[in-house]
Amino acid sequence: MTDSLTIRRPDDWHVHLRDGAMLEAVVGHTARQFARAIVMPNLSPPVTTVAAAEAYRDRIVAALPGEADFTPLMTCYLTNNTDPEEVRRGFEAGVFTACKLYPAGATTNSDSGVTDIGNIRDVLETMAEIGMVLCVHGEVTHADIDIFDREAVFIERVLAPLLNDLPQLKVVFEHLTSEEGVQFVESAGANVAATITPQHLHINRNAMLVGGMRPHAYCLPVAKREKHRLALRRAATSGSAKFFLGTDSAPHAREAKESACGCAGIFNAPFALESYLAVFEEENAIDAFEGFASEHGPAFYGLPLNEGRVTLERADCDVPEAVEADDTQLVPFHAGETLRWRFVA
Ligand code: DOR
Ligand code: ZN
Repeated sequence: MTDSLTIRRPDDWHVHLRDGAMLEAVVGHTARQFARAIVMPNLSPPVTTVAAAEAYRDRIVAALPGEADFTPLMTCYLTNNTDPEEVRRGFEAGVFTACKLYPAGATTNSDSGVTDIGNIRDVLETMAEIGMVLCVHGEVTHADIDIFDREAVFIERVLAPLLNDLPQLKVVFEHLTSEEGVQFVESAGANVAATITPQHLHINRNAMLVGGMRPHAYCLPVAKREKHRLALRRAATSGSAKFFLGTDSAPHAREAKESACGCAGIFNAPFALESYLAVFEEENAIDAFEGFASEHGPAFYGLPLNEGRVTLERADCDVPEAVEADDTQLVPFHAGETLRWRFVA
């Protein structure tokens, strides 16, 4: 039995680092484990221009702890009015790594998102032409669609038609949560991949609802039935280069989660690798962990592999009930649990 695992340093292909005091509180957790991260642009106001992304990148770098070796990869928040030339300019200047599509109203700070994919046809065409990745929050938001069906309906109504129309477009289906999503990504071309979060590998919807309502298990897209979790575990541990690590770590102050209308988001950054590795071990797939965590993402984005290494050892890792952040607390994923692997360095 392996007692220690050393792999190429991983990246997080989907994270929310926030801004201001929250950024200061959380960025060190991500920078400790990951070399790079795709940083989500859903600030208020959202990051929609090259200038805003450069300024945000500078704030992230300024907030890093002194010893950190970490590169934030910036994304452009698409709106109905995004200018394709702004996107091209940002990509060619190396400021934007990807664009993020939030259907309007889908989640935190998505009010400025796209109301109809037809409104950004020109932007998507430009992206397909220059080989820029589109990160999608794959949920429809119509009131007549059950929240547990939002992802499957998004595939049918939005993503499949989009890829028929622009078959070259590089798409990352973010935070995949359903069997339909897994099947879609597996059967699509090599230009379509997906990130998978630790929470969607660990929990199904019972975690939110059985024995009381548990706001810290609530994120979007919501965790679904057990069969979906099992499909995600198979995909993540399969060795397929189409699936890679993206935590969707999304911190919200404890009081904003424990509320009559609690925010969506799970803060998993402090123990992200320990959490993922537990799944790979349970699935007898530790050999597939490095590909998922450190190789498939850079390959898809066309970026170099990291040269550094990280080590995890088999040892108890006690996850605290809360992490202090500015004048509040964040409740981490797995709060109060003991994980079986520990990140060393
Ligand atoms: O649960 C989520 N939280 N899902 C998202 O898509 C956004 C995120 C956030 O920003 O809080
Ligand atoms: Zn997210």
